[in-house]
Amino acid sequence: MDELVSLCARRGFIFQSSEIYGGINGFWDYGPLGVELKQNLKAFWWQRMVRGRDDVEGVDTSIVAHPRTWEASGHVEHFSDPMVDCRACKKRFRADQLDGVERCSASKTGEHDLTEAKQFNLMLRTFIGASEEAANVAYLRPETCQSLFTDFKRVREAARQKIPFGMAQIGKAFRNEINPRNFTFRSREFEQAELEFFVHPSERERWFEYWLGERRRWHADLGFGDDVLRIRPHDSDELAHYANAASDLEFLFPFGWQEIEGVHDRGDWDLTRHTEFAGKELTITDEETKERYTPMVVETSVGIERTCLALLCNGLCEETLEGGETRTVLRLPAFLAPVQVAVLPLSKKLSESARRLAGDLRRRFPVFYDEAGNIGRRYRRQDEAGTPFCVTWDFDSESDAAVTVRERDSMTQERIGVDALRAWLTDRLEMPA
Ligand code: GAP
Repeated sequence: MDELVSLCARRGFIFQSSEIYGGINGFWDYGPLGVELKQNLKAFWWQRMVRGRDDVEGVDTSIVAHPRTWEASGHVEHFSDPMVDCRACKKRFRADQLDGVERCSASKTGEHDLTEAKQFNLMLRTFIGASEEAANVAYLRPETCQSLFTDFKRVREAARQKIPFGMAQIGKAFRNEINPRNFTFRSREFEQAELEFFVHPSERERWFEYWLGERRRWHADLGFGDDVLRIRPHDSDELAHYANAASDLEFLFPFGWQEIEGVHDRGDWDLTRHTEFAGKELTITDEETKERYTPMVVETSVGIERTCLALLCNGLCEETLEGGETRTVLRLPAFLAPVQVAVLPLSKKLSESARRLAGDLRRRFPVFYDEAGNIGRRYRRQDEAGTPFCVTWDFDSESDAAVTVRERDSMTQERIGVDALRAWLTDRLEMPA
């Protein structure tokens, strides 16, 4: 992890938010490479889950919802973790995660003097309008899905969808985690990509299995094999307050197996509760059978930052090359790489033609142009950034209109005509169907 954290800061993937003030715990900034990785990952999710289907509608809802939303959803009552305080050093810990906490800095023995556990609500609060009164309290959403339930009727009618169909969105969520830790893994501000799929009650088990399979397939396309990704069904005593069944997709991080996605059978909990709290019917009448019912919901919920972290952990490797030289290489899936093509002229004298080629490729791919330093060092810099293809413009290119393309993982080189280059790259950089 230390190596990864250092590479992420050095290369501008991810670093502490407000770094010049000493950082702010649980908040992270994504730099030029990090933001591209995140955008590509979100685009892949959106393509697979929304654009590529005719039974899912995308939305983008506000972060602050009506406060009653969170009473109906159960978050005001249930969304809390047990916490304890140390009377000596005044630090606060999660009572269920005391293993491995640092020693107390204020007691002679290093032992913490802990209070009894208290429940601590994880929702971040704010006030709407000019006065900070209880009546004006609002919450930054702790999950993105609740508006998908409150907008269910509007979107279904507007999009003329019939059951089964789904609603999806990608957006920010906030949780006032007691112990943010493991780099970005547990943050206080993060993004979720969530799908709520509304089905007839008789079909809930079938759709739960279907979506679990679909989500496993998506993670396989990210390069996560069974050695690093497993499905773990929840025991009945660990189910969230809304879930009838749930399975986690867990990734093997350097700090152990941890959840990156949850697939939940939420039953009719949410629609029924919003009907009750808002006083608005959220039922369906089947046009053919005239049956009236509340749809059941199967949810898939993946963390964007956790998946980025899994991609970085899975991709980072140190290799010893022939001759004993080492290289750091980030084996990201080519279609997700922040820079997909680097254009590198062999000499600055060739920069005019090489820049022209870079400009042409940039219309189709994320391109980085670099003419500084020796070519070996430039390759190494691209390996570290995860760039799958380096295109070298050399002196022969001026006459034969061909370039050398070097592949990141195998380091093999191939001579390709400039006319054929775009199609050659497209074949290798397209996202999986
Ligand atoms: N709507 C269901 C829901 O929010 P969850 O299991 O609490 O379910 C879903 O969260 C996903 O959101 C997790 O699998 C994880 O990837 C991501 N996530 C949750 N809390 C997070 C945190 N503090 N930091 C980063 N990602 C988080």
